[in-house]
Amino acid sequence: MIKIIDCGSQLTQNIARRVRELNVFTEIVPFHVFPDSLPRNLEGIIISGGQFSVYDNKSPHYSKNILDGRVPVLGICYGLQSIVHLLGGKVSPAENREYGQTSIGLSRIYNSPLFNDIIHSRIDVWMSHGDIVEELPDGFITTSRSVNNNHISSIENSHKKIYAVQFHPEVDHTNYGREILNNFLNICGAIRSWNPEKEYGTLVENTRERIKGKVGVGGISGGVDSSTASVLVGKIAGRSYHPIFVDNGLLRLDEGREVMKSLSTSGLDVDYVDASEIFLAKLKGISDPDKKRKIIGHEFIAVFEEEARKIQNASYLVQGTLYPDVIESVPIYGASSEIKRHHNVGGLPEKMELELVEPFRNMFKDEIRKIAEKKLGMPKEIVWRHPFPGPGLAIRIIGDITPEKLSVLRKADAIFMEELKKKDLYYEISQAFAVLTNTQSIGVMGDEGTYQGVIGLRAVTTNDFMTSDWYGFRKEDLTTISNRIINEVKGVNRVVYDISQKPPATIEWE
Ligand code: XMP
Repeated sequence: MIKIIDCGSQLTQNIARRVRELNVFTEIVPFHVFPDSLPRNLEGIIISGGQFSVYDNKSPHYSKNILDGRVPVLGICYGLQSIVHLLGGKVSPAENREYGQTSIGLSRIYNSPLFNDIIHSRIDVWMSHGDIVEELPDGFITTSRSVNNNHISSIENSHKKIYAVQFHPEVDHTNYGREILNNFLNICGAIRSWNPEKEYGTLVENTRERIKGKVGVGGISGGVDSSTASVLVGKIAGRSYHPIFVDNGLLRLDEGREVMKSLSTSGLDVDYVDASEIFLAKLKGISDPDKKRKIIGHEFIAVFEEEARKIQNASYLVQGTLYPDVIESVPIYGASSEIKRHHNVGGLPEKMELELVEPFRNMFKDEIRKIAEKKLGMPKEIVWRHPFPGPGLAIRIIGDITPEKLSVLRKADAIFMEELKKKDLYYEISQAFAVLTNTQSIGVMGDEGTYQGVIGLRAVTTNDFMTSDWYGFRKEDLTTISNRIINEVKGVNRVVYDISQKPPATIEWE
């Protein structure tokens, strides 16, 4: 196994995902709890990036002992700078910072094993740093430099098995990023045995052990995480497990019915609770997105709690918590290890004294999808469904929410989805949806002027939902979608397509 020392970078999870994609098991450990004594099965260490300069008094520190050559180490960005700093080299603020796409030239004199099989001597990588290395520690050599600024962009000390890159091999924008990580795993001699499908047997056994002879409940949102967790537990526990689907009135057209139907084909008997009136009453007149989210989260707990209490002797709660939910919530600073609960269900287990069952808390979404599809035989519509936020359409109606606005948005969104499926684009796009803006625009229909609503369309491609690009439709596809929405949805006379990248925009509008 490989351990990743998390020094606070937003990209630490990407490193873990990449390593697991290369079939090596890896875990992320916050820098302040990384042990001095290395576990026996440890094959290598990766030190992540981070937002601080090595000279900040808040900068993350880990023990220098891990750099003594016992296992290979790869430092990334801050990881590189902290290695240089700890081993007696010099890091200073750069005059020309490097952010974004940057060309680097690989050393012509020394062929680093980190760059094995890279046929080009210049590659484009993704940088994000303000400090640079001025002096290398003893025993290190430079293996590449940035073309424009001649800054050191990778170093190594093969004797001590320390390798470090200033750029981010874990992001898609770095050419040969996967190859570089793969080369590091080869240097480590890492065993390529990680495979989520193979883990399935252990996962079933562990879950069976925990819920044996007990009655439990679970929340279903319709997304792949909670559905897969419920199908798995349902298969093990049968009728002693009670999944509950709360319809908050903020779902898409026919969504409740479709989710119930798909889950029943997977053998799950779900309790459907229609709480739409309560949610809509509480949201009346509320425009602020934060307030909308809080009200919805709070109401969900109230409704779910009431329903769950009807299940006699329930002693556990199933949640589709994933590894990113767990690591995102372990703060880098401070001793607390509070864990973010799956959306909207936060607070329930403590309140109801339920034991939490989270079968997938060590896995990533793509790993769950493999299990859902290959081991549980779940339908494609659930496994590859675009993510849908817990607060639902409430954060896709800009401004206050009314039944009329919900109806307009549902119709527009359904047309958008229908066309994407018809044109075989749905599974090519990571997430797509319609937004009802709070703008009215002037138009003409027949001989008459109109003053009606504006629908925004969003379609993005992304691997991790932390960065995303807008999807490049063909003109005729957008034209069909736009014409259909304007012709078929009363109250809409204009459709706009959102071409913002994340960052700086987010995927949702609110
Ligand atoms: P953003 O808008 O932050 O979205 O770029 C990234 C991903 O998260 C989803 N999202 C949410 N999911 N509750 C959720 O359960 C929320 O409040 C929420 N806000 C955003 C979003 O749909 C996208 O997949």
